[in-house]
Amino acid sequence: MQIVILDNAAEVARYGADVFIRQIDRKPDSVLGLATGSTPLALYRRLIAACKNGDISFARVCSFNLDEYLGLAGDHPQSYRHFMNTQLFEHIDIDLRNTHIPPGDAADPIQACSDYDKLIEARGGIDIQLLGIGRNGHIGFNEPSSGLRSRTRIKTLTEATIKDNARFFSAREFQPHLSITMGIGTIMEARKVVLLATGAAKAKAIKAAAEGPLSASCPASALQMHGNALLIIDEAAAAGLERRAFYKHVERENQKLLQSLDKT
Ligand code: PGA
Repeated sequence: MQIVILDNAAEVARYGADVFIRQIDRKPDSVLGLATGSTPLALYRRLIAACKNGDISFARVCSFNLDEYLGLAGDHPQSYRHFMNTQLFEHIDIDLRNTHIPPGDAADPIQACSDYDKLIEARGGIDIQLLGIGRNGHIGFNEPSSGLRSRTRIKTLTEATIKDNARFFSAREFQPHLSITMGIGTIMEARKVVLLATGAAKAKAIKAAAEGPLSASCPASALQMHGNALLIIDEAAAAGLERRAFYKHVERENQKLLQSLDKT
């Protein structure tokens, strides 16, 4: 697990966006795993700017989102399909037919889950998966107690997550309590995983994910078993880390190494 600690949320977005820009530059037909929530928004704004400047093109990119509310159709303003269209897809040159989000309104949602995993596989697997983290350590909607090898499936949201996400819904608006989410096993198959976390509210979850035991109690701790996981976090989210100084030292050494390789 590589842990990069930066001064603030803007730096986290910049660093994370650069990782995605390099990926698309290297492989223009990359398969991206994308996430919703507040944290990735600044990164998406940077990808939009890079696309508008002509630095990258999404014309050959294909994407798979982590999750969707069960019971919401894609045209519902609270659906994650609507979120992705308005926050990213409508502003870049991606072909909407290459963007995939679990269908919240599927007639047979159980079948839709296994179809989603099959589609990811048919597209060659995910090259790079973006993740946020819940205050309870969830990734996607894999809440604590989720199987560490789980596949895309229907998951019940915890009270805590429903409360955290209530800010996106207006009073008396229907807020789903169920979701379709990629499983932890599905996420772990991505060739690279990039998790972003900012703010003090995430410090406990980051501590558990990076330094706690591998445990379904903190689904993000599964990333300790991933061969290519990158955590990009700000100082506030890093506040609980015991080996914070060491991670900063490692990152400085990595940067020195990269610079010296650049010169050769
Ligand atoms: P947030 O959500 O980015 O809105 O904090 C993250 C998550 O719940 O995965």
